[in-house]
Amino acid sequence: QAGPMTTSTIPPGSSSTTSPELAALAEAVARRRNFAIISHPDAGKTTLTEKLLLYGGAIQQAGAVKAKGEQRKVTSDWMELEKQRGISITSTVLQFDYAGNTINLLDTPGHQDFSEDTYRTLAAADNAVMLEDAAKGLEPQTRKLFEVCRMRQIPIFTFINKMDRPGREPLELLDEIEQQLGLACWPVNWPIGSGDRFRGVIDRRSHNLILFQRAERGRASEEKTLSVQQARETGAVEAELLDQALEELELLEGAGADLDLELVHGGELSPVFFGSAMTNFGVRPFLDAFLELAQRPAARPSSAGVIEPIRPGFSGFVFKLQANMDPRHRDRVAFVRVCSGKFEKDMTVQHARTGRAIRLSRPQKLFGQDREVVDDAYPGDVIGLNNPGMFAIGDTLYVGPRIEYEGIPCFTPELFAWLRNPNPSAFKSFRKGVNELREEGAVQILYDIDESKRDPILAAVGQLQLEVVQYRLEHEYGVQTRLEPLGFTVARWVLGGWPALEQVGRIFNCKTVRDAWNRPVLLFKNDWNLGQLRDDHPDLELSGVAPVVSGVEPIAL
Ligand code: G4P
Repeated sequence: QAGPMTTSTIPPGSSSTTSPELAALAEAVARRRNFAIISHPDAGKTTLTEKLLLYGGAIQQAGAVKAKGEQRKVTSDWMELEKQRGISITSTVLQFDYAGNTINLLDTPGHQDFSEDTYRTLAAADNAVMLEDAAKGLEPQTRKLFEVCRMRQIPIFTFINKMDRPGREPLELLDEIEQQLGLACWPVNWPIGSGDRFRGVIDRRSHNLILFQRAERGRASEEKTLSVQQARETGAVEAELLDQALEELELLEGAGADLDLELVHGGELSPVFFGSAMTNFGVRPFLDAFLELAQRPAARPSSAGVIEPIRPGFSGFVFKLQANMDPRHRDRVAFVRVCSGKFEKDMTVQHARTGRAIRLSRPQKLFGQDREVVDDAYPGDVIGLNNPGMFAIGDTLYVGPRIEYEGIPCFTPELFAWLRNPNPSAFKSFRKGVNELREEGAVQILYDIDESKRDPILAAVGQLQLEVVQYRLEHEYGVQTRLEPLGFTVARWVLGGWPALEQVGRIFNCKTVRDAWNRPVLLFKNDWNLGQLRDDHPDLELSGVAPVVSGVEPIAL
């Protein structure tokens, strides 16, 4: 009899797994959700995270997520930065159970330390929660992060926060998302009033009201549910506000779109929620709907075709590396997103890039300041592995037939600076540091096309990335360096390579450099100069993202 083992989703050659194990795996996958929050600083990510964790019983007390006051002030004071890294990094992933499900919240370090790490984390997420401040709407960092989500077509859930304060019109906020991001919206609930007159939301599917009761600042507000009828009879809400909300809701219904899960999972339609994280209003309804609507750990493309999470053999990829997580131990951790199969402690896995077998004896789960050895993990989970320099961003680990996941793309840098080594006798350490930090994905490295100018150009998405590189060169490699900013803000890879560039001839207002794979990259002062080039040479194919390379070793410094 054909059992579940013989269905087409399970590749041959994985005979060691028996059906009950497979059923357990399928169940674990079905119970898992994973997401990252994308937002601009101050939209309320920390606050929302805390409230979500409270529902999961993961923390006893709001305020335990991180020492926020300290985190805020940090700019370039390095003692502080260490502290900050210690705090925000240990919360790389927060796992909690809610309503019988296991939820993994991948933390995107969102504040001053905005960097490529933030982007890479999104490569490991199956869903994103886009958090907006109702008074501000879309903000720059959110837009950038959204673009990355779009690249991967991951489902986006929108939470409009701070409804307890005066904000913009809800319809206007949705319109902005639809117009500017090209993302259709489907409000799951709709606000009644706003600011001082915020009374709660109407659940669009049940048509029930969830009433907001203003509590003392920082305190959880109570949520009371009643029907429209009851609200009218008891006068719980001013008729005028209720009428307006119902009218707007009708308008939305008239617009016709359905809550089509396929569109949601394709990242084309965003379920929208209104609430107030600080007062804990609307967080639970959001969590409930999220569990219902979010994408389960998803299948992923690989060199061996699409890999389903219920493939019996464990597989996963490294999406983030972190050194010195614990300054006392100077350790390095590689974060692995589990993509298929069950992961077990002490498992021996294959490392796709080097072909070596590795025994994973001390996998960790990190929560707040605590670390715990994990015994097992399932698709959608994240584990931390000790990394004695073996793992690089994008590396695949697997058991069973060989697979390799698609690489994680580099992201469009926006900051460029010469990295100078004023001390020639330290060149060896300088070179070692630069090469290793590039390998680790701490920063992208570009070179001048004039070979006599040997200093590397650091290319980053955030200022902090540059500071981290300098700091680590000094503390880990013993070289003091100097940064000389280059006044460019836009980089484009020339897809046709050097021949395409030669055909175009001289380009004005632009600097040509090469990346670590000797590919031409054009640097512009601003978008306007880029636009000029586009106008002059419409056939020249450019990309803001470095095309993924595999199998080719980069040029070292
Ligand atoms: P972030 O992690 O996205 O940067 O934002 P964070 O949660 O730190 O929130 C930024 C500020 O917004 C905090 O105020 C926080 O209390 C406030 N906030 C978050 N959610 C809401 C909300 O739903 N309503 C209102 N009115 N405010 C909200 P702060 O004054 O900077 O800090 P604190 O003194 O409250 O700690």
